[in-house]
Amino acid sequence: MPSVLLSFLGLCFVLGASAYSEIKSIAEDNVTLPCRHQLGSLGEQSLDIEWLFNDSNQKKSVVISYSSGQVYHGENSHGRFNFASTNFLAGDATILITSLQPSDAGLYICKVKNAGQYKWNDIKLEVLVKPSEPECSIQGEKLEGKNVTLHCNSSSDTTPIYYRWQRMKYKEGLIVPMPKSARIVTPQILTIQNLSMADNGSYLCIVTNEAGKKNCTLHLTVQPNVIGVGFLAAVTCGALVGAVLLCITIWLVLRKKELKKRKEDEFLNEIREDAEAPKARLVKPGSSSSGSRSSRSGSSSTRSTTNSASRSQRTLSTQEPAPGEPRHHCLDQI
Ligand SMILES: *[C@@H]1O[C@H](CO)[C@@H](O)[C@H](O)[C@H]1NC(C)=O
Ligand SMILES: *[C@@H]1O[C@H](CO)[C@@H](O)[C@H](O)[C@H]1NC(C)=O
Ligand SMILES: *[C@@H]1O[C@H](CO)[C@@H](O)[C@H](O)[C@H]1NC(C)=O
Ligand SMILES: *[C@@H]1O[C@H](CO)[C@@H](O)[C@H](O)[C@H]1NC(C)=O
Ligand SMILES: *[C@@H]1O[C@H](CO)[C@@H](O)[C@H](O)[C@H]1NC(C)=O
Ligand SMILES: *[C@@H]1O[C@H](CO)[C@@H](O)[C@H](O)[C@H]1NC(C)=O
Ligand SMILES: *[C@@H]1O[C@H](CO)[C@@H](O)[C@H](O)[C@H]1NC(C)=O
Repeated sequence: MPSVLLSFLGLCFVLGASAYSEIKSIAEDNVTLPCRHQLGSLGEQSLDIEWLFNDSNQKKSVVISYSSGQVYHGENSHGRFNFASTNFLAGDATILITSLQPSDAGLYICKVKNAGQYKWNDIKLEVLVKPSEPECSIQGEKLEGKNVTLHCNSSSDTTPIYYRWQRMKYKEGLIVPMPKSARIVTPQILTIQNLSMADNGSYLCIVTNEAGKKNCTLHLTVQPNVIGVGFLAAVTCGALVGAVLLCITIWLVLRKKELKKRKEDEFLNEIREDAEAPKARLVKPGSSSSGSRSSRSGSSSTRSTTNSASRSQRTLSTQEPAPGEPRHHCLDQI
């Protein structure tokens, strides 16, 4: 048991010795890495300061140094790494990194040396990256009764990324409730089903991570479903035209028949005046097909039906301008 306790304490000691402070900062920002010491009084010329960088691939480099009263910049410093002050002897070895980049993430070691005395300060720097400008789009027909999907896509090295959807009132920038038919399919996709004119408006996608947020606005302009109305009009129109054509055809056929019948009747009358009509003559297409019935009843019944048909036709033909009117309507709509 004591050995376990000892090793536990030893572990704590080791951890304590290698402890470093952690700094989280956001890309593009400026950050200061503090380093204070009390070694300046040991000698002005012998004070030596080094900032070493141990990157994520454990590649080491000197970022900036101070030696013999001179400041030296590291090879890859590009002017972004500077001492925050010139109070080196007063004990300030803090550096300032401007326009932080993701590749700046890693372990920084501030090493101060003077007259055989050392001071170390380790700082672990984490660089957070804001989400990228989201790419947003609306897919689907923006017509009444249709479904649309709103897409929002952003990326960042810093995860997790959260998506939030809001509906905004035009111009006033106020948040208004989502349509009832709006559903979040995945955090990046919002669907609105069975579009109505009331769904018209601006939809905002807000992308957030630990480093910050970005947004994009989608304008949904719902159009009345004119295609549906037009289609319906075309169908109605077609049906009316068809009906009129059918009526005309029927009328023509019946008229032809009537004329034929009249001629036939006249012919029959002539025959009857002569003598007995041959039976075969009576069987005529259009009249009773049985042939055994009396020609008179057959012809009269045919006559009456043709008369009624032609009468109904006449009433239809007088109505003809009426169906013509909606046709103009239809054409206007198309
Ligand atoms: C960072 O520092 C530079 C130079 O000191 C300055 O021009 C820039 O505005 C600073 N950026 C931020 C985000 O503070
Ligand atoms: C460099 O960093 C790695 C981890 O990032 C660590 O294991 C290694 O000990 C560091 N090297 C020094 C000299 O601090
Ligand atoms: C809209 O989506 C719903 C549910 O997925 C589906 O039942 C419906 O048919 C879709 N409507 C159209 C016009 O695509
Ligand atoms: C989102 O954007 C990233 C690149 O920025 C791309 O790789 C990915 O395919 C996109 N996802 C969708 C759903 O569009
Ligand atoms: C679509 O909405 C209309 C009213 O806007 C409604 O009459 C119709 O029933 C809805 N259709 C479906 C499939 O929900
Ligand atoms: C959306 O982003 C713009 C800048 O890109 C900002 O001015 C605006 O306040 C943001 N809107 C919301 C609701 O976060
Ligand atoms: C629908 O949205 C458009 C902009 O996308 C706007 O000009 C129009 O006024 C809106 N219509 C209604 C009825 O809100």
